[in-house]
Amino acid sequence: MVNNASILRWAVYGILTELFHNIVVRNVRRFAKSEAQAAAQFKLRQPARSEIAVVTGSTGGIGSCIARLLAFKGYDVVLCARDENAANRIMADIRLALKDSLVDGPIEPPSVYFVEYHADDERSALQVASRVKEISIETNSKLSVLVNNAGIMGHSKQATIKVNLLGPVFLTFALLAHLEESERAVVVNVGSSAHLRATGVVEDLGDPSGPSVSWVDALPTTADEDLSTYAKSKLAIMQFSMLLRHWLPTRTHVHVVDAHPGLVWTPLLRNHIGDKAVGTLTKTGLAKLLYKTPNEGAQAIVAAVDDVPSDTEPSKREQVYYENGMAGGHASTESRSIDQSKELWKTVIAPEVSSVDLPPGWGQQNGL
Ligand SMILES: NC(=O)c1ccc[n+]([C@@H]2O[C@H](COP(=O)([O-])OP(=O)(O)OC[C@H]3O[C@@H](n4cnc5c(N)ncnc54)[C@H](OP(=O)(O)O)[C@@H]3O)[C@@H](O)[C@H]2O)c1
Repeated sequence: MVNNASILRWAVYGILTELFHNIVVRNVRRFAKSEAQAAAQFKLRQPARSEIAVVTGSTGGIGSCIARLLAFKGYDVVLCARDENAANRIMADIRLALKDSLVDGPIEPPSVYFVEYHADDERSALQVASRVKEISIETNSKLSVLVNNAGIMGHSKQATIKVNLLGPVFLTFALLAHLEESERAVVVNVGSSAHLRATGVVEDLGDPSGPSVSWVDALPTTADEDLSTYAKSKLAIMQFSMLLRHWLPTRTHVHVVDAHPGLVWTPLLRNHIGDKAVGTLTKTGLAKLLYKTPNEGAQAIVAAVDDVPSDTEPSKREQVYYENGMAGGHASTESRSIDQSKELWKTVIAPEVSSVDLPPGWGQQNGL
């Protein structure tokens, strides 16, 4: 549900807070940072670290920059998206930049791969997992990072839930066994402050219209013009993170965090506001003032990867929500409601999961 109170909290803790960050905090930081410091993020100072990072939506604005930043941190990076031509351009660019940046002598740069990925298709997640296994053998590396970044906004309501929620669900389960092989692993679910607009996912999307139609298949295929389903999809992904924190076996060294990139000038945002507004914002210079660059958005996500402790048990219960690259962002109470999360599992997710393996004992101790 979206109501006046939730719109108000989103306006205050989402839009206004982000604009303040982008206009004031970001520019002060830019001013304080020397050019050399800014360039340091793209200097390769270590050889490949024998760890793999899978980044979905890495042909897009923020995702391609996340992939690049992680490659410069020494991860073998797997780009997952649909557009192979775009991926080839991005891979060539990252490889060239890695080669050009070797600062401390001849070291072997990390590898960059592309695997075709359709977030709305469970089989595609399994194909990604099987290719990641091959890459792991080829590079003698272990999967330690999954960034569920692929997302859509303003498309059909049904597609929005499929891509933004079911995509991360399928891929996380498909890759879980690989992540568990690492001593320290992290799943970053890319969220949005838009989740503050939604007070629930299941309650007002309607019931299935018949016994043979799943809840998701019963969703309208009309456009999500007011972005209310986008808001719900971002609340839903945070609730899925809660389920992982509660239900993954305690021996699992997989940390699960949510991260919001901020307001970022990318195709997702530009397509929504339309050509006329894009033209005005660009011409007046307001786009640069109001919005982060894709690289700044990516830094906010990669900070969550860096922050994960290397030698402790993951916190199993507490929500970890990054905003502007710092833990402790303003997340809604609904996003950490275990009761709503269980309802989401039962009504929305469970009927869609058929091929990927669920972790042993998943949800059983909770009577589901
Ligand atoms: N931009 C913002 O201000 C903002 C704010 C808050 C949160 N976010 C979140 O940040 C994430 C990245 O957004 P962005 O702004 O970088 O968007 P973007 O530039 O539109 O990129 C979206 C990416 O998702 C991929 N994708 C879309 N549909 C897919 C599907 N069915 N299967 C697989 N991949 C698919 C696209 O690649 P292909 O077309 O090649 O598949 C593309 O790489 C999203 O989750 C978004 O909700 C963005």
